[in-house]
Amino acid sequence: MQHFVRIALAAILTAAVVGGAASAANAPEHVIKYRQNLMKAVGGHISNVALLVKGQVDFSGGLGTDSQAIVDLLKNAGIAFPEGTAEGKTKAKPEIWQDRAKFDAALEDTIGKAEALAVAAAGGDMAAVGAALGALGKSCGACHKSFRIKDE
Ligand code: HEC
Repeated sequence: MQHFVRIALAAILTAAVVGGAASAANAPEHVIKYRQNLMKAVGGHISNVALLVKGQVDFSGGLGTDSQAIVDLLKNAGIAFPEGTAEGKTKAKPEIWQDRAKFDAALEDTIGKAEALAVAAAGGDMAAVGAALGALGKSCGACHKSFRIKDE
């Protein structure tokens, strides 16, 4: 019994510590870092799909994983652009928060294109995968054009 109480107490204390950490989380610079890492990861996966489509590597087992990772990561992207994260070391344009509906629609479009890529990848027809990859790349670019500050 005593043992049980001690374990329960430990669990509560752990929850309190984790809860405390959560309330201090989401500082703008960390949110910005998080979304940039997320975008970099998406960029890594799309460039792997391109290597596979061009036949520069033939690890075709990676195709499904890379495509699905893009879908999963993009589904997390929306939360990584909260209000109050327009300033700092970010290339996000303030237009994201001035026209959030347009930004969200751009993200939805890209998620749809990524899902189409995952479907094509599962089908295994490389011409179809290539076409889906092209459509996805255009969709990424459309959001960047409206909402990301260009590199000099
Ligand atoms: C809904 C808009 C949107 C979509 C869709 C989108 N991006 Fe981005 N992306 C951004 C914004 C905004 C930034 C700048 C983030 C920042 O600096 O805080 C960015 C940054 C990036 C970066 C640079 C990350 C860094 O800081 O090093 C890469 C790479 C990238 N995106 C790749 C992609 C790829 C590939 C896709 C498509 C599969 C994609 N993005 C789809 C809005 C989008």
